[in-house]
Amino acid sequence: MDRLTENANLMIVSDLDHTMVDHHDLENLSLLRFNALWEENYRSNSLLVFSTGRSPTLYKELRKEKPMLTPDITIMSVGTEITYGNSMEPDNGWVEYLNQKWDRNIVFEETSKISELTLQSKTEQRPHKASFYVQKDKAEDITRSLSTCLKGRGLDVKIIYSGGMDLDILPQGAGKGQALAYLHDKFKAEGKLPKNTLVCGDSGNDADLFTVPDVHGVMVSNAQEELLQWHSIYAKNNPKIIHAKERCAAGIIQAIGHFNLGPSISPRDVTDLSDTKLENFDPAYEVVKFYLFYERWRLAEVENSELYLENLKAVCSKSGNFVHPSGIEKQLHDCVDSLRPSYGDKKGQPFRVWVDQVLPVQVGSDSWLVRFKKWEQSGGERLCCLTTALLSSKDVTVADGLTWVHVHQTWLKEAGPSSDAEWLF
Ligand code: GLC
Ligand code: MG
Repeated sequence: MDRLTENANLMIVSDLDHTMVDHHDLENLSLLRFNALWEENYRSNSLLVFSTGRSPTLYKELRKEKPMLTPDITIMSVGTEITYGNSMEPDNGWVEYLNQKWDRNIVFEETSKISELTLQSKTEQRPHKASFYVQKDKAEDITRSLSTCLKGRGLDVKIIYSGGMDLDILPQGAGKGQALAYLHDKFKAEGKLPKNTLVCGDSGNDADLFTVPDVHGVMVSNAQEELLQWHSIYAKNNPKIIHAKERCAAGIIQAIGHFNLGPSISPRDVTDLSDTKLENFDPAYEVVKFYLFYERWRLAEVENSELYLENLKAVCSKSGNFVHPSGIEKQLHDCVDSLRPSYGDKKGQPFRVWVDQVLPVQVGSDSWLVRFKKWEQSGGERLCCLTTALLSSKDVTVADGLTWVHVHQTWLKEAGPSSDAEWLF
Protein backbone atom coordinates (compact mmCIF):
# COMPACT_ATOMS: atom_id res chain seq x y z
CA MET A 1 0.00 0.00 0.00
CA ASP A 2 2.27 2.78 -1.11
CA ARG A 3 -0.43 5.25 -2.10
CA LEU A 4 0.05 7.02 1.24
CA THR A 5 3.48 8.41 2.01
CA GLU A 6 2.62 8.91 5.68
CA ASN A 7 0.61 7.11 8.37
CA ALA A 8 -3.06 6.98 7.48
CA ASN A 9 -5.18 9.29 9.61
CA LEU A 10 -7.88 6.69 9.86
CA MET A 11 -8.16 3.10 8.75
CA ILE A 12 -11.72 1.85 8.55
CA VAL A 13 -12.07 -1.90 8.43
CA SER A 14 -15.67 -2.73 7.73
CA ASP A 15 -17.71 -5.82 7.16
CA LEU A 16 -20.05 -5.50 4.16
CA ASP A 17 -23.37 -7.38 4.49
CA HIS A 18 -25.57 -5.68 7.08
CA THR A 19 -22.70 -3.40 8.15
CA MET A 20 -21.49 -1.18 5.29
CA VAL A 21 -24.34 -2.42 3.11
CA ASP A 22 -27.91 -2.31 4.39
CA HIS A 23 -29.90 -4.89 2.45
CA HIS A 24 -33.12 -3.44 3.87
CA ASP A 25 -32.38 0.06 2.55
CA LEU A 26 -33.38 -0.19 -1.08
CA GLU A 27 -32.30 3.41 -1.69
CA ASN A 28 -28.88 2.77 -0.14
CA LEU A 29 -29.05 6.13 1.57
CA SER A 30 -26.77 5.38 4.52
CA LEU A 31 -24.16 3.88 2.20
CA LEU A 32 -24.31 6.95 -0.06
CA ARG A 33 -24.00 9.20 2.98
CA PHE A 34 -20.90 7.32 4.09
CA ASN A 35 -19.45 7.47 0.57
CA ALA A 36 -19.76 11.26 0.36
CA LEU A 37 -18.26 11.68 3.84
CA TRP A 38 -15.32 9.42 2.97
CA GLU A 39 -14.55 10.99 -0.40
CA GLU A 40 -14.76 14.52 0.91
CA ASN A 41 -12.74 14.09 4.08
CA TYR A 42 -10.80 10.86 4.19
CA ARG A 43 -9.94 9.41 0.79
CA SER A 44 -6.64 11.19 0.28
CA ASN A 45 -5.13 10.54 3.72
CA SER A 46 -6.90 7.44 5.05
CA LEU A 47 -7.44 3.79 4.23
CA LEU A 48 -10.68 2.02 3.46
CA VAL A 49 -10.64 -1.72 4.04
CA PHE A 50 -13.56 -4.04 3.34
CA SER A 51 -13.50 -7.27 5.30
CA THR A 52 -16.14 -9.72 4.18
CA GLY A 53 -17.08 -13.36 4.55
CA ARG A 54 -17.84 -13.43 0.84
CA SER A 55 -15.57 -15.11 -1.67
CA PRO A 56 -14.13 -12.95 -4.47
CA THR A 57 -16.99 -14.14 -6.71
CA LEU A 58 -19.78 -13.03 -4.37
CA TYR A 59 -17.89 -9.87 -3.40
CA LYS A 60 -17.76 -8.80 -7.04
CA GLU A 61 -21.48 -9.51 -7.38
CA LEU A 62 -22.26 -7.26 -4.43
CA ARG A 63 -20.18 -4.47 -5.95
CA LYS A 64 -22.37 -4.59 -9.05
CA GLU A 65 -25.56 -4.45 -7.00
CA LYS A 66 -24.73 -1.70 -4.53
CA PRO A 67 -23.18 1.80 -4.81
CA MET A 68 -20.00 0.78 -3.02
CA LEU A 69 -16.72 2.68 -3.00
CA THR A 70 -13.49 1.03 -4.09
CA PRO A 71 -11.50 -0.01 -1.02
CA ASP A 72 -7.73 0.26 -0.71
CA ILE A 73 -7.55 -3.26 0.66
CA THR A 74 -10.06 -6.10 0.33
CA ILE A 75 -10.13 -8.94 2.82
CA MET A 76 -12.38 -11.74 1.63
CA SER A 77 -13.46 -15.24 2.64
CA VAL A 78 -13.45 -14.44 6.39
CA GLY A 79 -9.91 -13.12 6.58
CA THR A 80 -8.33 -15.81 4.43
CA GLU A 81 -7.72 -13.74 1.29
CA ILE A 82 -6.12 -10.28 1.32
CA THR A 83 -5.81 -8.21 -1.85
CA TYR A 84 -4.53 -4.70 -2.58
CA GLY A 85 -5.69 -1.87 -4.78
CA ASN A 86 -7.96 -1.71 -7.81
CA SER A 87 -6.27 -4.66 -9.45
CA MET A 88 -6.81 -6.73 -6.29
CA GLU A 89 -3.25 -7.96 -6.09
CA PRO A 90 -3.19 -10.95 -3.70
CA ASP A 91 -0.97 -11.07 -0.62
CA ASN A 92 0.91 -14.33 -1.15
CA GLY A 93 2.72 -14.10 2.19
CA TRP A 94 -0.63 -14.38 3.93
CA VAL A 95 -1.60 -17.45 1.90
CA GLU A 96 1.63 -19.20 2.83
CA TYR A 97 1.16 -18.44 6.49
CA LEU A 98 -2.31 -19.99 6.44
CA ASN A 99 -1.03 -23.32 5.15
CA GLN A 100 0.17 -24.25 8.64
CA LYS A 101 -1.68 -27.18 10.17
CA TRP A 102 -4.32 -26.97 7.51
CA ASP A 103 -5.58 -29.54 5.06
CA ARG A 104 -8.93 -28.82 3.49
CA ASN A 105 -9.32 -32.40 2.25
CA ILE A 106 -9.31 -33.64 5.82
CA VAL A 107 -11.84 -30.95 6.74
CA PHE A 108 -14.23 -32.10 4.00
CA GLU A 109 -13.66 -35.75 4.85
CA GLU A 110 -14.71 -35.19 8.46
CA THR A 111 -17.55 -32.77 7.78
CA SER A 112 -19.11 -35.13 5.24
CA LYS A 113 -19.82 -37.48 8.15
CA ILE A 114 -22.07 -34.89 9.86
CA SER A 115 -25.54 -34.92 8.38
CA GLU A 116 -26.61 -31.63 10.01
CA LEU A 117 -24.03 -29.74 7.95
CA THR A 118 -25.18 -28.57 4.54
CA LEU A 119 -22.46 -27.50 2.16
CA GLN A 120 -22.63 -23.89 0.96
CA SER A 121 -22.23 -23.13 -2.75
CA LYS A 122 -19.04 -24.06 -4.58
CA THR A 123 -17.95 -20.43 -4.91
CA GLU A 124 -17.78 -20.14 -1.11
CA GLN A 125 -15.40 -23.10 -0.64
CA ARG A 126 -11.96 -21.51 -0.76
CA PRO A 127 -8.41 -22.76 -0.29
CA HIS A 128 -8.49 -21.77 3.40
CA LYS A 129 -12.22 -21.74 4.13
CA ALA A 130 -14.81 -24.51 4.18
CA SER A 131 -18.37 -23.25 4.63
CA PHE A 132 -21.66 -24.87 5.61
CA TYR A 133 -25.14 -24.06 6.83
CA VAL A 134 -26.27 -25.35 10.17
CA GLN A 135 -29.32 -24.76 12.34
CA LYS A 136 -28.90 -22.39 15.26
CA ASP A 137 -29.70 -24.95 17.96
CA LYS A 138 -27.18 -27.45 16.59
CA ALA A 139 -24.30 -25.01 16.04
CA GLU A 140 -22.67 -25.21 19.45
CA ASP A 141 -22.57 -28.99 19.74
CA ILE A 142 -21.30 -29.46 16.23
CA THR A 143 -18.60 -26.84 16.70
CA ARG A 144 -17.39 -28.62 19.81
CA SER A 145 -17.29 -32.11 18.34
CA LEU A 146 -15.74 -30.93 15.07
CA SER A 147 -12.96 -29.12 16.94
CA THR A 148 -12.04 -32.25 18.83
CA CYS A 149 -12.17 -34.45 15.81
CA LEU A 150 -10.09 -32.17 13.56
CA LYS A 151 -7.56 -31.70 16.33
CA GLY A 152 -7.27 -35.46 16.53
CA ARG A 153 -6.39 -35.44 12.83
CA GLY A 154 -3.55 -33.00 13.35
CA LEU A 155 -5.24 -29.80 12.22
CA ASP A 156 -5.48 -26.54 14.11
CA VAL A 157 -8.70 -24.87 13.00
CA LYS A 158 -11.00 -22.03 13.92
CA ILE A 159 -14.75 -22.58 13.64
CA ILE A 160 -16.96 -19.51 13.35
CA TYR A 161 -20.74 -19.28 13.46
CA SER A 162 -22.34 -16.20 11.81
CA GLY A 163 -25.72 -14.78 10.96
CA GLY A 164 -27.50 -17.58 12.82
CA MET A 165 -26.83 -20.00 9.95
CA ASP A 166 -23.30 -19.97 8.50
CA LEU A 167 -20.53 -22.17 9.82
CA ASP A 168 -17.01 -21.52 8.54
CA ILE A 169 -13.95 -23.63 9.18
CA LEU A 170 -10.63 -21.84 8.76
CA PRO A 171 -7.00 -22.36 9.73
CA GLN A 172 -6.43 -21.22 13.34
CA GLY A 173 -4.27 -18.30 12.18
CA ALA A 174 -7.00 -16.97 9.86
CA GLY A 175 -10.06 -14.82 10.55
CA LYS A 176 -10.90 -11.17 10.09
CA GLY A 177 -9.00 -10.11 13.22
CA GLN A 178 -5.82 -11.97 12.35
CA ALA A 179 -5.87 -10.56 8.84
CA LEU A 180 -6.13 -7.06 10.30
CA ALA A 181 -3.37 -7.72 12.84
CA TYR A 182 -1.20 -8.93 9.95
CA LEU A 183 -1.86 -5.69 8.05
CA HIS A 184 -1.09 -3.64 11.16
CA ASP A 185 2.25 -5.46 11.51
CA LYS A 186 3.05 -4.75 7.88
CA PHE A 187 2.29 -1.05 8.26
CA LYS A 188 4.27 -0.91 11.49
CA ALA A 189 7.31 -2.39 9.79
CA GLU A 190 7.09 0.43 7.22
CA GLY A 191 6.63 3.02 9.98
CA LYS A 192 3.13 3.70 8.68
CA LEU A 193 0.80 2.35 11.35
CA PRO A 194 -2.53 4.19 10.94
CA LYS A 195 -3.16 6.80 13.65
CA ASN A 196 -6.57 5.30 14.34
CA THR A 197 -8.35 2.15 13.28
CA LEU A 198 -12.11 1.70 13.42
CA VAL A 199 -13.52 -1.79 12.95
CA CYS A 200 -17.19 -2.24 12.06
CA GLY A 201 -19.32 -5.34 12.10
CA ASP A 202 -22.65 -7.01 12.75
CA SER A 203 -22.16 -10.76 13.06
CA GLY A 204 -20.15 -13.67 14.48
CA ASN A 205 -17.28 -13.59 12.03
CA ASP A 206 -16.70 -9.92 12.95
CA ALA A 207 -16.04 -10.64 16.65
CA ASP A 208 -12.44 -11.36 15.75
CA LEU A 209 -12.01 -7.77 14.50
CA PHE A 210 -12.84 -6.38 17.94
CA THR A 211 -9.99 -8.34 19.55
CA VAL A 212 -7.24 -6.53 17.63
CA PRO A 213 -5.24 -4.38 20.08
CA ASP A 214 -5.89 -0.62 20.15
CA VAL A 215 -8.73 -0.49 17.67
CA HIS A 216 -11.98 1.38 18.06
CA GLY A 217 -15.00 -0.72 17.26
CA VAL A 218 -18.63 -0.32 16.33
CA MET A 219 -21.28 -2.98 16.36
CA VAL A 220 -24.03 -1.51 14.23
CA SER A 221 -27.49 -1.24 15.82
CA ASN A 222 -28.76 -4.19 13.82
CA ALA A 223 -25.95 -6.50 15.02
CA GLN A 224 -26.75 -10.20 15.36
CA GLU A 225 -27.37 -11.87 18.65
CA GLU A 226 -24.17 -13.96 18.43
CA LEU A 227 -21.98 -10.82 18.20
CA LEU A 228 -23.78 -9.01 21.03
CA GLN A 229 -23.46 -12.14 23.14
CA TRP A 230 -19.74 -12.38 22.39
CA HIS A 231 -19.38 -8.72 23.36
CA SER A 232 -21.24 -9.18 26.65
CA ILE A 233 -18.89 -12.02 27.61
CA TYR A 234 -15.52 -10.80 26.36
CA ALA A 235 -15.58 -7.06 25.81
CA LYS A 236 -18.34 -5.52 27.89
CA ASN A 237 -16.10 -3.07 29.73
CA ASN A 238 -14.07 -1.95 26.75
CA PRO A 239 -14.93 1.75 26.23
CA LYS A 240 -13.46 1.59 22.72
CA ILE A 241 -16.33 -0.57 21.50
CA ILE A 242 -19.84 0.79 21.05
CA HIS A 243 -23.16 -0.64 20.00
CA ALA A 244 -24.43 2.08 17.67
CA LYS A 245 -27.97 3.44 17.72
CA GLU A 246 -27.94 3.63 13.96
CA ARG A 247 -28.12 0.85 11.41
CA CYS A 248 -25.30 -0.17 9.08
CA ALA A 249 -23.25 2.64 7.47
CA ALA A 250 -25.12 5.23 9.54
CA GLY A 251 -23.78 3.42 12.62
CA ILE A 252 -20.25 3.72 11.21
CA ILE A 253 -20.73 7.47 10.77
CA GLN A 254 -22.06 7.65 14.33
CA ALA A 255 -18.94 5.86 15.62
CA ILE A 256 -16.59 8.25 13.77
CA GLY A 257 -18.30 11.09 15.64
CA HIS A 258 -18.47 9.25 18.97
CA PHE A 259 -14.74 8.49 19.01
CA ASN A 260 -13.76 11.87 17.51
CA LEU A 261 -11.92 10.22 14.66
CA GLY A 262 -12.50 13.11 12.26
CA PRO A 263 -15.35 14.86 10.44
CA SER A 264 -18.63 12.99 10.85
CA ILE A 265 -21.14 15.11 8.98
CA SER A 266 -21.83 13.72 5.56
CA PRO A 267 -22.13 16.34 2.81
CA ARG A 268 -25.38 14.55 1.94
CA ASP A 269 -26.80 15.79 5.24
CA VAL A 270 -26.00 19.41 4.43
CA THR A 271 -28.80 21.12 2.54
CA ASP A 272 -26.89 24.10 1.26
CA LEU A 273 -23.30 23.15 0.61
CA SER A 274 -22.38 26.65 -0.50
CA ASP A 275 -22.69 27.69 3.16
CA THR A 276 -19.80 25.47 4.23
CA LYS A 277 -16.88 27.51 5.55
CA LEU A 278 -13.52 26.15 4.47
CA GLU A 279 -10.11 27.05 5.85
CA ASN A 280 -8.18 26.01 2.77
CA PHE A 281 -8.82 25.27 -0.87
CA ASP A 282 -10.19 21.77 -1.02
CA PRO A 283 -10.44 20.07 -4.42
CA ALA A 284 -12.12 16.88 -3.08
CA TYR A 285 -14.81 19.02 -1.47
CA GLU A 286 -15.44 20.84 -4.77
CA VAL A 287 -15.92 17.57 -6.63
CA VAL A 288 -18.23 16.01 -4.02
CA LYS A 289 -20.22 19.25 -3.75
CA PHE A 290 -20.62 19.65 -7.49
CA TYR A 291 -21.93 16.13 -8.09
CA LEU A 292 -24.29 16.33 -5.13
CA PHE A 293 -25.71 19.51 -6.55
CA TYR A 294 -26.01 17.82 -9.93
CA GLU A 295 -28.00 14.92 -8.40
CA ARG A 296 -30.24 17.29 -6.46
CA TRP A 297 -30.83 19.45 -9.51
CA ARG A 298 -32.05 16.52 -11.58
CA LEU A 299 -34.16 15.22 -8.69
CA ALA A 300 -35.58 18.73 -8.15
CA GLU A 301 -34.34 18.62 -4.57
CA VAL A 302 -32.93 22.14 -4.89
CA GLU A 303 -34.85 25.18 -6.04
CA ASN A 304 -35.10 25.76 -9.77
CA SER A 305 -33.13 28.97 -9.61
CA GLU A 306 -31.06 30.73 -12.24
CA LEU A 307 -28.82 31.80 -9.39
CA TYR A 308 -27.46 28.27 -9.02
CA LEU A 309 -26.48 28.14 -12.68
CA GLU A 310 -24.94 31.60 -12.48
CA ASN A 311 -22.89 30.52 -9.47
CA LEU A 312 -21.78 27.44 -11.34
CA LYS A 313 -20.69 29.52 -14.30
CA ALA A 314 -18.80 31.78 -11.94
CA VAL A 315 -16.64 28.82 -10.87
CA CYS A 316 -16.07 27.55 -14.41
CA SER A 317 -13.32 29.15 -16.44
CA LYS A 318 -14.75 31.11 -19.43
CA SER A 319 -12.38 29.35 -21.79
CA GLY A 320 -12.71 26.02 -19.94
CA ASN A 321 -13.53 22.86 -21.88
CA PHE A 322 -15.26 19.61 -21.17
CA VAL A 323 -14.35 16.49 -23.10
CA HIS A 324 -17.46 14.31 -23.09
CA PRO A 325 -16.84 10.51 -22.94
CA SER A 326 -18.28 10.20 -26.47
CA GLY A 327 -15.39 12.32 -27.72
CA ILE A 328 -17.31 15.56 -28.19
CA GLU A 329 -15.74 18.71 -26.80
CA LYS A 330 -17.84 21.51 -25.34
CA GLN A 331 -17.32 24.74 -23.45
CA LEU A 332 -17.86 24.37 -19.71
CA HIS A 333 -20.24 27.31 -19.77
CA ASP A 334 -22.38 25.61 -22.43
CA CYS A 335 -22.49 22.47 -20.26
CA VAL A 336 -23.87 24.52 -17.40
CA ASP A 337 -26.53 25.92 -19.76
CA SER A 338 -27.44 22.41 -20.81
CA LEU A 339 -28.40 21.68 -17.20
CA ARG A 340 -31.36 24.10 -17.45
CA PRO A 341 -33.80 21.76 -19.26
CA SER A 342 -32.72 18.82 -17.07
CA TYR A 343 -34.07 20.35 -13.92
CA GLY A 344 -36.21 17.72 -12.16
CA ASP A 345 -36.12 15.29 -15.09
CA LYS A 346 -35.36 12.44 -12.65
CA LYS A 347 -37.81 13.54 -10.00
CA GLY A 348 -39.36 10.62 -8.14
CA GLN A 349 -37.13 8.16 -9.96
CA PRO A 350 -34.34 5.98 -8.64
CA PHE A 351 -31.53 8.29 -9.67
CA ARG A 352 -28.24 8.53 -7.78
CA VAL A 353 -24.84 10.01 -8.42
CA TRP A 354 -21.71 9.26 -6.43
CA VAL A 355 -17.98 9.77 -6.80
CA ASP A 356 -15.32 7.23 -5.92
CA GLN A 357 -11.56 7.48 -5.37
CA VAL A 358 -11.41 11.26 -5.53
CA LEU A 359 -7.67 11.80 -5.54
CA PRO A 360 -6.36 15.35 -6.01
CA VAL A 361 -2.71 16.03 -6.80
CA GLN A 362 -1.35 19.53 -6.56
CA VAL A 363 0.42 20.14 -9.86
CA GLY A 364 1.37 23.80 -9.47
CA SER A 365 1.26 26.54 -6.87
CA ASP A 366 -2.37 27.25 -7.75
CA SER A 367 -3.62 24.15 -9.55
CA TRP A 368 -4.81 20.64 -8.80
CA LEU A 369 -5.44 17.67 -11.00
CA VAL A 370 -8.27 15.63 -9.52
CA ARG A 371 -8.92 12.10 -10.71
CA PHE A 372 -12.06 10.23 -9.72
CA LYS A 373 -14.73 7.83 -10.88
CA LYS A 374 -18.12 9.41 -11.41
CA TRP A 375 -21.00 6.95 -11.14
CA GLU A 376 -24.56 7.55 -12.19
CA GLN A 377 -27.39 5.12 -11.55
CA SER A 378 -30.67 5.73 -13.29
CA GLY A 379 -33.26 3.02 -12.86
CA GLY A 380 -31.55 -0.25 -13.71
CA GLU A 381 -28.73 1.37 -15.69
CA ARG A 382 -25.45 2.20 -14.04
CA LEU A 383 -22.69 4.06 -15.82
CA CYS A 384 -19.27 5.27 -14.81
CA CYS A 385 -16.69 7.64 -16.21
CA LEU A 386 -13.06 7.94 -15.27
CA THR A 387 -12.82 11.66 -14.82
CA THR A 388 -9.94 14.10 -14.69
CA ALA A 389 -10.55 17.69 -13.66
CA LEU A 390 -8.14 20.58 -13.54
CA LEU A 391 -9.03 23.05 -10.77
CA SER A 392 -7.36 26.36 -10.12
CA SER A 393 -7.11 28.79 -7.24
CA LYS A 394 -5.75 31.60 -9.43
CA ASP A 395 -7.39 34.97 -8.70
CA VAL A 396 -10.00 33.53 -6.31
CA THR A 397 -10.37 33.32 -2.54
CA VAL A 398 -11.09 30.22 -0.47
CA ALA A 399 -14.64 31.53 -0.02
CA ASP A 400 -15.13 31.81 -3.81
CA GLY A 401 -14.04 28.21 -4.26
CA LEU A 402 -11.77 26.70 -6.88
CA THR A 403 -12.28 27.34 -10.58
CA TRP A 404 -12.92 24.39 -12.92
CA VAL A 405 -10.55 24.81 -15.85
CA HIS A 406 -10.87 21.53 -17.69
CA VAL A 407 -12.83 18.28 -17.33
CA HIS A 408 -12.16 15.11 -19.29
CA GLN A 409 -14.17 11.88 -19.11
CA THR A 410 -13.75 8.37 -20.48
CA TRP A 411 -16.17 5.47 -20.00
CA LEU A 412 -14.95 2.96 -17.48
CA LYS A 413 -14.40 -0.21 -19.48
CA GLU A 414 -16.89 -2.39 -17.60
CA ALA A 415 -19.42 0.39 -17.01
CA GLY A 416 -19.85 2.17 -20.33
CA PRO A 417 -23.21 2.46 -22.12
CA SER A 418 -24.54 -0.33 -24.35
CA SER A 419 -25.94 2.22 -26.81
CA ASP A 420 -26.04 6.01 -26.94
CA ALA A 421 -26.44 7.18 -23.37
CA GLU A 422 -27.65 10.45 -22.02
CA TRP A 423 -24.77 11.76 -19.93
CA LEU A 424 -24.37 15.39 -18.97
CA PHE A 425 -21.32 15.54 -16.71
C1 GLC B 1 -20.58 -14.87 3.67
C2 GLC B 1 -19.96 -16.00 2.88
C3 GLC B 1 -20.24 -17.34 3.52
C4 GLC B 1 -19.86 -17.30 5.00
C5 GLC B 1 -20.56 -16.15 5.69
C6 GLC B 1 -20.19 -16.02 7.15
O1 GLC B 1 -21.96 -14.93 3.58
O2 GLC B 1 -20.46 -16.00 1.56
O3 GLC B 1 -19.50 -18.36 2.89
O4 GLC B 1 -20.20 -18.53 5.62
O5 GLC B 1 -20.20 -14.95 5.03
O6 GLC B 1 -18.83 -15.86 7.33
MG1 MG C 1 -22.19 -8.92 8.10
